[in-house]
Amino acid sequence: MKPLSLRTANFTDSVIRRMTRVSNRFGAVNLSQGFPDFEPPKEILERLQQVSHEDFHQYSITWGAQNTREALAEKESHYMGIPIDPDSEVVITCGGTEAMMAAMMTICNPGDKVAIFSPFYENYGADTILSGAEPIYIPLVPPEFNFDPEVLEQAFKDGAKALVLCNPSNPSGKVFSLEEMQTIADIIKRYDAYVVTDEVYEHIIYAPNKMVYMAALPGMKERTIVTGSLSKTYSITGWRLGYTIAPPEITDRIRKVHDFLTVGAAAPLQEAVVTGLRFPQEYYDKLQEKYTHKRELFCDGLAEAGLRFQRPEGAYYVMADISEWGYDSDLQFCYDLAEKVGVGAVPGSSFFHEPVNHLIRFHFAKKDETLKDALNRLQDIHTKLKK
Ligand SMILES: Cc1ncc(COP(=O)(O)O)c(C=O)c1O
Repeated sequence: MKPLSLRTANFTDSVIRRMTRVSNRFGAVNLSQGFPDFEPPKEILERLQQVSHEDFHQYSITWGAQNTREALAEKESHYMGIPIDPDSEVVITCGGTEAMMAAMMTICNPGDKVAIFSPFYENYGADTILSGAEPIYIPLVPPEFNFDPEVLEQAFKDGAKALVLCNPSNPSGKVFSLEEMQTIADIIKRYDAYVVTDEVYEHIIYAPNKMVYMAALPGMKERTIVTGSLSKTYSITGWRLGYTIAPPEITDRIRKVHDFLTVGAAAPLQEAVVTGLRFPQEYYDKLQEKYTHKRELFCDGLAEAGLRFQRPEGAYYVMADISEWGYDSDLQFCYDLAEKVGVGAVPGSSFFHEPVNHLIRFHFAKKDETLKDALNRLQDIHTKLKK
């Protein structure tokens, strides 16, 4: 038989999703793959029931139902502080996952270079390869996950055409400050490049950190493709709803890529989520409070268990330092953690380009009782896992 594509030959299965299977095998509390175990808002669920009896069962407009694009543009325009035209600047996609893939395919020619901060959400590496581009990794150095602007600039001197910017960041929990965003924006403008933002966690930020939108900085809207998702904001990861926001000439191309990739996101779900997109500020305040509480609960418990970690500034992940156990493989550590301690985590090496092997990632988008169960199990990690 003729060989399959070279492009995909070196793909491994997603380590994040593999760790969910490992957690299930050992009956571990699964804090690996980042999805909530609590219900979406009841208003959205009620609307979903109604929608099933209404006329939303055929294809919507391929780039997103009018109603959904209008609600999304209004909401994002409010938070980002810039005008967004629902008719020419928005595409509703199948999750943030498709949004990022479509953005990369829109920007990249084979051989183009794309700068990616490392550690990074694992899809970016695959997206780059699928779109024919080559990644240039810019270290976010633990424990504080700062970057060196000169190293970033070097990537553009070396020909990077775009930067992928995940803010707030998965897995590091970093929220880029206004000053950092301005530094990045200056470099992007100087080298006439693009930014593809991943703003999936835009509403999960811990005070005093604040969301700075790249597209809202002077001169950046025209060179920014925003990718976002409704998965985390409304606890509906299974609905597969995301979006891109970009200037009309870029959106026009994204629409074509999106049309050929998926035709469109599920029409009934697009309609049902409009209820969420029209929620008042109070909803986002409560979301923030809820995750702030979970962050404190989980991080305080980790500290009690004697683990070292950096408290996240945003998103719902925390990276814990496992160097004291001296494992050669953080993957093996995670297997042992699932089997012997009963908690599922993701090896940090799956997020780093650099040879970093001393961090593991937990997520805390879980009911308090689930988190407490995990924390109880973690309290005697030092006796269960021998050094
Ligand atoms: C940073 C980041 N981007 C994108 C995604 C994927 O989002 P979606 O469920 O909308 O495809 C995730 C999911 O965990 C994520 O953490």
